[in-house]
Amino acid sequence: MQIDIITIFPEYFREAFDFGIIRRACAAGLVNIRAHDLRAWTSDKHHVVDDRPFGGGDGMVFKPEPIFAAVKSLTGASRRESMAAGKRVLLLSPQGRQFTQAVAADLAVSEQLILICGRYEGVDERVADALVTDEISIGDYVLSGGEPAALVVIDAMVRLLPGALGSETSAANESFSAGLLDCPQYTRPPDFEGIRAPEVLLTGNHAEIARWRRESSMEKTKRNRPDLLK
Ligand code: ADE
Repeated sequence: MQIDIITIFPEYFREAFDFGIIRRACAAGLVNIRAHDLRAWTSDKHHVVDDRPFGGGDGMVFKPEPIFAAVKSLTGASRRESMAAGKRVLLLSPQGRQFTQAVAADLAVSEQLILICGRYEGVDERVADALVTDEISIGDYVLSGGEPAALVVIDAMVRLLPGALGSETSAANESFSAGLLDCPQYTRPPDFEGIRAPEVLLTGNHAEIARWRRESSMEKTKRNRPDLLK
């Protein structure tokens, strides 16, 4: 998979992919991630990427031209309709649809992903209208830019690429994959300052342990995320 990030802060991503599962996935050639400076696609002397909003108002808006030019040079297409199958153009914005594990799994089968990181007051809406295939929000809060959201999306997705996790089954057993939160985990010591790990986990009775895990997943989901059970 090829991942291209379009940002005015490419340095933000400098070491972001140098750790853990993402680093291994890159090293194994499962994914190639590059961060590009949006200013490289400006044609004026001062490399201006933003301008005042039509109609007035606070702040600045990202101009369409550099973004369309960037996506054209990275994908060969400058309209959503002419984007090759397998290429997706994401705009990270608080106006997007909610990013979930299901969206991560859907994106993980792409050949190439472009992530456009917005900034300031927003991005000229013609980008969302004519270029972007998926406008995505990572949650109902406003970040100062799309960069942290791009990191979140890439991390959640790359770990789903076949071969990225140590064992092929580990992604199937974790939170959200069955619509529930993952069950609690414990390790040694069995007694930490009088707080004991559940005895059933120490018995070696696999059927009982599986039952305990199902029940505690359900309890934890009820307590922390009742919305998942509706
Ligand atoms: N940019 C600013 N806020 C955002 C959010 N919640 N999700 C994605 N991109 C954003």
